[in-house]
Amino acid sequence: MMKKMIPLVKPYIAPASEMMPEIERILYSGYIAEGEEVYQFEEQFGSFVQNPLLLCLNSGTAALHIALELIGVDRGDEVISTAMTAEPTNTTIALTGAKVIWGDVDINTGLLSPENVRSKITEKTKAIMLVHYAGMVCDLDAFHKISEEFHIPIIEDAAHALGGKYRGKMIGAYSPYTCFSFQAIKHMTTVDGGALCLKRENEFKEAKKLRWFGLDKSVSRLKNDIKRPGYKYGMNNVTAAMGKVQLKHMETIIGKHIENGKYYDEKLKGIPGITLIPYYEYTEPSYWLYTLKVEQRTEFMKALEDKGITASPLHHRSDTHSVFKSSHCELPNLDKFYEEFVHIPCGWWVGEEERERIADIIKRGW
Ligand SMILES: Cc1ncc(COP(=O)(O)O)c(C=O)c1O
Repeated sequence: MMKKMIPLVKPYIAPASEMMPEIERILYSGYIAEGEEVYQFEEQFGSFVQNPLLLCLNSGTAALHIALELIGVDRGDEVISTAMTAEPTNTTIALTGAKVIWGDVDINTGLLSPENVRSKITEKTKAIMLVHYAGMVCDLDAFHKISEEFHIPIIEDAAHALGGKYRGKMIGAYSPYTCFSFQAIKHMTTVDGGALCLKRENEFKEAKKLRWFGLDKSVSRLKNDIKRPGYKYGMNNVTAAMGKVQLKHMETIIGKHIENGKYYDEKLKGIPGITLIPYYEYTEPSYWLYTLKVEQRTEFMKALEDKGITASPLHHRSDTHSVFKSSHCELPNLDKFYEEFVHIPCGWWVGEEERERIADIIKRGW
């Protein structure tokens, strides 16, 4: 018999009694494509992340792609990014034709190092891609300074960081481009989906066109004139209906991730061979995954697995893919971080007893 494991990730779906009537209502409403339901979800998600200039899309990848397009990233440009992420962060950069320039990470956090990014800026740098990996928030104070000093925009890949905060505000509220994902295993899922948060009205209008072939929805289709080709990146009403129901639960669901994360932050302090991750000033993580560094990682993962607890690095570093061969460079901090980091379960499905058991096992030297 397969052993029942506490997983690292698990989709949260609101109770069927709430979800199914809404999905049914939209499915048989005669309007299942992008429409009122999407606009309502945008309004509600916008209030959640404290930014009304927001577009819902069919994926986080679409959000990243449109952000890069709005900035005008193109062939011959460079975008500084991190390899410590899921693939779409960087494949979208490759899609624009720009070259990915790897920034090294801060050895303590695994997040992009502002100093290292600064050293990689050239005339060709068109954007800096930040990833709030596992829900930990990058050193946004330092990156905003770099952005202002060099006039290079920042894109926040916040696929893991819904509910994270910077200077007391939600991630999504601050930077000119923030991308969320509602993919299956994120804090909030709509099966697939995403959102792009913006700060400028003109870019908001342009992004709306880019998500729908380049057409302007406010003008009759017969009178439309596509000046710049766009994509088919919009969200549909069925997905949005799901999002509206899911969103009602997010304060509680994300709250559980955060509560569990903070619990580990306290309980796992001072254990030999284990290093906890410090969080940058003015940032609050949303603990999509709980991240820690372990000297004997392989043994640690095995021991936890034997006790029914999944522990794993989850993502594979992105710089190893052939498509990024020409971007290859030395990343000594990432090499070191990558050898030691591991995630343990901390999501909404981890109850008080389970987190206590996990912490005790780790404290006792697993
Ligand atoms: C860090 C990161 N960025 C971007 C994405 C892309 O999101 P999506 O799957 O919604 O396109 C994901 C998730 O898949 C991710 O983990």
